[in-house]
Amino acid sequence: MVKSVRVGLAGFGTVGSGTFNILTRNGLEIARRVGRSIEVTQIGARRDNPNCDTSNYDMTRDIFDVAKNPNIDILVELIGGTTVAKELVLLAIENGKHVVTANKALIAEHGNEIFAAANRKGVSVLYEAAVAGGIPIIKALREGLAANRIEWIAGIINGTGNFILTEMQEKGREFSDVLSEAQALGYAEADPSFDVEGIDAAHKLAIISSIAFGIPLQFDSVYTEGISQITPADIEYADQLGYRIKHLGMTRKSENGIELRVHPTLISKNRLIANVNGVMNAVLVKGDAVGPTLYYGAGAGDEATGSAVVADIVDLARSLDGNPDQNVPSLGFVKTEDTSILPIDLIYTCYYLRIEVEERPGVLAEITKILSEQNISIEAVLQKETHKKGRLIPIIILTHRVLEKDMNKAITKIQALDEVGEEITRIRLEYLDAD
Ligand code: HSE
Repeated sequence: MVKSVRVGLAGFGTVGSGTFNILTRNGLEIARRVGRSIEVTQIGARRDNPNCDTSNYDMTRDIFDVAKNPNIDILVELIGGTTVAKELVLLAIENGKHVVTANKALIAEHGNEIFAAANRKGVSVLYEAAVAGGIPIIKALREGLAANRIEWIAGIINGTGNFILTEMQEKGREFSDVLSEAQALGYAEADPSFDVEGIDAAHKLAIISSIAFGIPLQFDSVYTEGISQITPADIEYADQLGYRIKHLGMTRKSENGIELRVHPTLISKNRLIANVNGVMNAVLVKGDAVGPTLYYGAGAGDEATGSAVVADIVDLARSLDGNPDQNVPSLGFVKTEDTSILPIDLIYTCYYLRIEVEERPGVLAEITKILSEQNISIEAVLQKETHKKGRLIPIIILTHRVLEKDMNKAITKIQALDEVGEEITRIRLEYLDAD
């Protein structure tokens, strides 16, 4: 008889329960796919999960028991965080176990070390669930698109942030009110500033960029801006100009280096990705051979993320007795190459500017003069009636592509004009076209 594949779950929260419920509910179908059954041998967690019936399962309060258990082939790390999780994963590797993890922070920050340890031991560490929840983007990049030179990737890869921006856009709700709802729904990270300040998206982008371009993981080099400064007024002005504001992760390979950035971004309403709403995620990948391809789905949630965890378990179960040298390399490339990450100053993007000015003849002329002195070409201008009491009125300017360094110089000069009040709002704009 063919032996079962023995899985140990470490962590039994939202994703743990989703994984457990999928494995128990779809066990027979999964066994038909793999050719052997997958059995949850042990669950390590500080407390039980009321969404799962674990009465017939071996439960331990010490997750390290799972990493040391000689009857386990695959350790599934779902505890989150980077300290204990790293120790746990390295211990499991040391004990010759394969690892599946949904932990983006762990992979983004310690992946280079973890993959090296796994290579030495001849085991695999899979992490599909770490990026964009249930969307199989890691598999798409490492395998489905392996023929391509990837040119750029743009992703809405934080569900909480997208949920907040969508609610603000569609219902005019306040930022803080929507954030509380996202936390109650279980989308947000334990520390929600990870979502709204872009750190969660930066973890995911670092991973995507590495497997797209075959470079080592470089989380510390991701330029990150959050969405907490986005106002309903900016969402409305962008809408009037034909754009949505999305929290976008962007990585692009150019001659000078690799762009790696997370920030609010105006995207034309005509782009499919601009219409990805609520907690949904989407990743747009431009390959030189295939052109643009778009991957869409739930980026968070118990069974959506559990779906990706189970897919990794299935992959491992299929290759368990094979030659580890024939496995897909951890970052999709047998050899990674150090390519420099471009500092944000050296990146070209278009811009949305909101400049609050006193209504006086010649102000607009002064502003456009400064922009032209920096070689910045204007795409559109909108002057609005004021959205709040006071003497300032907003002027909205969209620019053509400009070097960030030049835009910084222009903004400093405009800000210094007597007629300009408040801090100028600047949001980058991407066309995301196929060329
Ligand atoms: N907090 C994350 C999000 C969960 O909102 O997308 C999935 O990584």
